[in-house]
Amino acid sequence: MFDLIIRNANLPDGRTGFDIGIRGERIAEVAAKIEASAKAEIDASGRLATPPFVDPHFHMDATLSLGLPRMNRSGTLLEGIALWGELRPTLMREALVERALRYCDLAVSQGLLAIRSHVDISDPRLVTVEALLEVRERIAPYIDLQLVAFPQDGYYRSPGAVDALNRALDMGVDIVGGIPHFERTMSDGAASVEALCRIAAERGLPVDMHCDETDDPISRHIETLAAQTIRFGLKGRVAGSHLTSMHSMDNYYVSKLIPLMTEAEINVIPNPLINIMLQGRHDTYPKRRGLTRVRELMEAGLNVSFGHDCVMDPWYSMGSGDMLEVGHMAIHVAQMAGIDDKRKIFDALTVNSAKTMGLEGYGLDKGCNADLVILQARDPLEALRLKPNRLAVIRRGKVIARTPPRVSALHLEGRPSAVDAADYAPAFGN
Ligand code: FE2
Repeated sequence: MFDLIIRNANLPDGRTGFDIGIRGERIAEVAAKIEASAKAEIDASGRLATPPFVDPHFHMDATLSLGLPRMNRSGTLLEGIALWGELRPTLMREALVERALRYCDLAVSQGLLAIRSHVDISDPRLVTVEALLEVRERIAPYIDLQLVAFPQDGYYRSPGAVDALNRALDMGVDIVGGIPHFERTMSDGAASVEALCRIAAERGLPVDMHCDETDDPISRHIETLAAQTIRFGLKGRVAGSHLTSMHSMDNYYVSKLIPLMTEAEINVIPNPLINIMLQGRHDTYPKRRGLTRVRELMEAGLNVSFGHDCVMDPWYSMGSGDMLEVGHMAIHVAQMAGIDDKRKIFDALTVNSAKTMGLEGYGLDKGCNADLVILQARDPLEALRLKPNRLAVIRRGKVIARTPPRVSALHLEGRPSAVDAADYAPAFGN
């Protein structure tokens, strides 16, 4: 006897028409046909059941603050930074908590059930940290939230950041952050990487830095980050977020850099929506794309996962908590349009990002947490193309969100009466 059985689901690895049996908070069986009964059943009708989406790079302290204290009229990064600087001293804990909780409601509706958020520690009040620690606790039943102590204005450049970062970690923030390319000099940037990796090693914490988020090919802090990762014994526990300068680097140099990153087992976190929006801004034409070398990094065996980064904040007025929107952009900007490519992109929104975050019990195997999402699409490729509705979102065996299928009624003589975009299959299947 099961508590819940999902019938006739397609799985991300290509298996079709499978049943998933759930007992308590765990997946108890995955089989072509489960003969047993259950207290409740969901008919997936040949739609895709996937483990939840995982966002390994986000800013929950800033999300949904678009328009506060006023709109970013130019849409540029610089006006965004200026706006955040105006807003930050006025932030109150209650308002921060409320905005974050509202975003998490949206995330759940999109099947996004694990998020790593950077938390700006530049304001010495650390009200952002207090607020997000409260949020982490309140949403724990439905979202896994990890927090990164992020010295947004620079670890050395911002007065008080060295002290504030340590206080944030003492308060219970999970991960050591950094922003070496924003320090005053290259050598300050390199020194910050060393200092922050040392703190992580001493405290037994992971590292996740905004690293080389610039078009400057000489911005090579990822090299230092990889070297310090090895030196401090942090292999596999360090993430390099953005890495956009790699887009513009000399190819010979990159041929040496990628093996070093592989040796250090760096987790790579590009943010395709933000990268294509913000990079190449100083170019006239041709304009660089600015996304890091996704295909080459994947082919080298590095763990690549994509982040949403921002939703409706001073830097980015778009976004909807839909990780498939992130993957959709990645396919285009990284020019990864092959069948295997798209499956890799889907993995970068799910299994790879779960690995980046070190989530336990993630997946659709027997014994994994009963966390999954049923999409109004048959397979990962269709999901990336359609960004479909999440028909059901399940957390620890309980349905926590449902969305009706998106079907349009047609009023055309001689044509079908309804259109479901998921009925448009390629002639030879995916
Ligand atoms: Fe970021």
